[in-house]
Amino acid sequence: MQQRQLFVTTALPYANGNFHIGHIMEYIQADIWVRFQRMQGSQVYFCCADDAHGAPIMIAAEKAGKTPQQFVADIAQGRHPYLNGFHIAFDNWHSTDGEENHTLAKQIYLDLQAAGLISTKTIEQFFDPEKKMFLPDRFIKGECPKCGAQDQYGDSCESCGAVYAPTELKNPRSALSGAEPVLKSSEHYFFSLSDPKCLSFLQEWTQSGRLQSEVANKVREWLTPNEDGKTGLGDWDISRDAPYFGIEIPNAPGKYFYVWLDAPVGYLASLKNYFAKGGPKSRGDARTFEEFMSDPKVEQYHFIGKDITYFHTLFWPAMLHFSGRKTPDNVFVHGFVTVSGEKMSKSRGTGIDPLKYLSIGMNPEWLRYYIAAKLNSKVEDVDFNTEDFVTRVNADLVGKFVNIAARSAGFLQKRFDLKLGSLSQDGQALLHVLQNAAPTIAQGFEEREFGKVCREIMLLADRVNEYVDANKPWELAKSVENEGALHQACTACIESFRLLSLYLKPILPDLATKVESFLNIPPLDFTSAQTLLGQGHVIGPYEHLMQRVDVKLLDQLTEPAKTEEPPKSAPGGVAIEPTIGIDDFVKVDLRIAKIVDAQAVEGSSKLLKLTLDVGEGQNRQVFSGIAAHYKPEDLVGQLTVVVANLAPRKMKFGVSEGMVLAASHEDEKAYPGVFILNPWPGATPGMRIR
Ligand code: MSP
Ligand code: ZN
Repeated sequence: MQQRQLFVTTALPYANGNFHIGHIMEYIQADIWVRFQRMQGSQVYFCCADDAHGAPIMIAAEKAGKTPQQFVADIAQGRHPYLNGFHIAFDNWHSTDGEENHTLAKQIYLDLQAAGLISTKTIEQFFDPEKKMFLPDRFIKGECPKCGAQDQYGDSCESCGAVYAPTELKNPRSALSGAEPVLKSSEHYFFSLSDPKCLSFLQEWTQSGRLQSEVANKVREWLTPNEDGKTGLGDWDISRDAPYFGIEIPNAPGKYFYVWLDAPVGYLASLKNYFAKGGPKSRGDARTFEEFMSDPKVEQYHFIGKDITYFHTLFWPAMLHFSGRKTPDNVFVHGFVTVSGEKMSKSRGTGIDPLKYLSIGMNPEWLRYYIAAKLNSKVEDVDFNTEDFVTRVNADLVGKFVNIAARSAGFLQKRFDLKLGSLSQDGQALLHVLQNAAPTIAQGFEEREFGKVCREIMLLADRVNEYVDANKPWELAKSVENEGALHQACTACIESFRLLSLYLKPILPDLATKVESFLNIPPLDFTSAQTLLGQGHVIGPYEHLMQRVDVKLLDQLTEPAKTEEPPKSAPGGVAIEPTIGIDDFVKVDLRIAKIVDAQAVEGSSKLLKLTLDVGEGQNRQVFSGIAAHYKPEDLVGQLTVVVANLAPRKMKFGVSEGMVLAASHEDEKAYPGVFILNPWPGATPGMRIR
């Protein structure tokens, strides 16, 4: 078989923050695949880079008092501990602000222009008159045009979910300066994707069977013409006006490429940078970057998350194809990491912090194994669940696999000078089963069915453990007569353990290295699955290979980060409750009520009995714990706020048909006072509060 040549990337992370567990998951997935390919003898160049450009990074840099270049350089500096820590073996890490990317992005653009696919159009956009810049949608805030919710972004409402243009917002404000944005027109550059030849190319590229089926289906929806005969594919706005942190468009002063134009070009730029550093040459590849990229034998794959499918299955292949370049062979789309079933929030950084994971001494290969065990080739979300994590690592990885070595190595050392013996018939049969599994396991890796691979390997480990339980080396060791049988049993264990380690090596590279040294063998690859160590092979002394997870570590990992402020400075003495959606809020029916009558309650120093008019034509009786703070006569005639749909509650003194709202500090002793609410003039009984 001819050696495959692969160029593999993961999505380029925005250079405005550290990695979260979602990034690490993507890198682990790609890294396992790359390591598998290398074990098959393929030549792989595995590259990534920081996605440096765009308005949000420019603005974040300004806030931090740094130049954008300094800002992204500082972020880049922080990448190493994560990548080294989780054994993610990129060949190169670059930046989309690197020289190679500037050059390549401009070249691709000029080639698209020569192909007649660049057009210009004047469009109107919001402009911040104080900051003197056009505002990206995310930097315009105002009232939702659909539901009226305050403080919503320019592209969609977090309250009702509506999607709209920033110009539809009511009372729009610049999130940068607070100024009222003005409409200003400017000339924009477009990639003419509505050109029929783009549609027909993309139909072919996306529907010819390469993509995962869910991805192909989604793309088909995007490409299908709607009722007015237009496709979902319009011309793509690829320019932004200065000031912008990005790459200047050739022959268009003051215009920059929109970040998503130059970001995927960064894949090529990182590879080009790797060539410039002499990486391929040092690995025996004498080609230039250009020669490599135009070699039809080279396969190109991008690992990405589901949220950026549109860019990678439509814009990117079209950019490459119509600029006269080779298109990717495939784009591998994965789902999102959730933590105990919940979506993680990028901004609040909930979930599992990868650096904390490492710093509290958790083994990175536990996570690699856990993620592998949960991954398949579909676009499904992957849940990190602590109980599940403990089971998979302790029961499967350590209990079933690592223990095989621990159960046999001691006897070999004490009784047989670390020398392997012969195999019994049972032992030979067992090893055949293990060796015969190699093609299925390799296929599973190739297809990114890592969960299936892990299950397969654990089934094999079960077979080995059954063999151990049937032969009972600890029993055999009790009498000298059984010396031969003991030697055979331990030999079968070690031979089995080597094969299982080989199969797990793409997932557990560090453990595999330890096993190689323990077994005294050269690096394991897939061809070595068909051989055995053989009688007389001398292994090394057993060294501890992997610990079980201590549940306490997981408690520590998931413990929320200590907030900077001591809890007593929480507003009102108590932390804000977890976020709710509008759906939760509307369930609480708040109404204006008029206090028609207020009476002291005999036998209670706390309660007042209120008679309330909530506009229903008949009054309600409500007991309220405000007797220590208000005189009944002061309340009569006042308007206030009541929860009108609270289930009636039977109290010692009668039924309470609602609840009057009042404010108080959590620590009432230190901050005395209870304050009922009073609406502004004009409100009348029965009005709803929302
Ligand atoms: N900069 C762009 C990608 C440009 S590629 C030319 C970007 N950056 S990102 O930092 O937001 O995301 C980087 C990768 O992480 C993407 O593939 C994204 O899908 C992935 N993930 C982000 N959050 C994720 C999870 N919660 N779970 C799994 N992957 C997630 O998008
Ligand atoms: Zn809304």
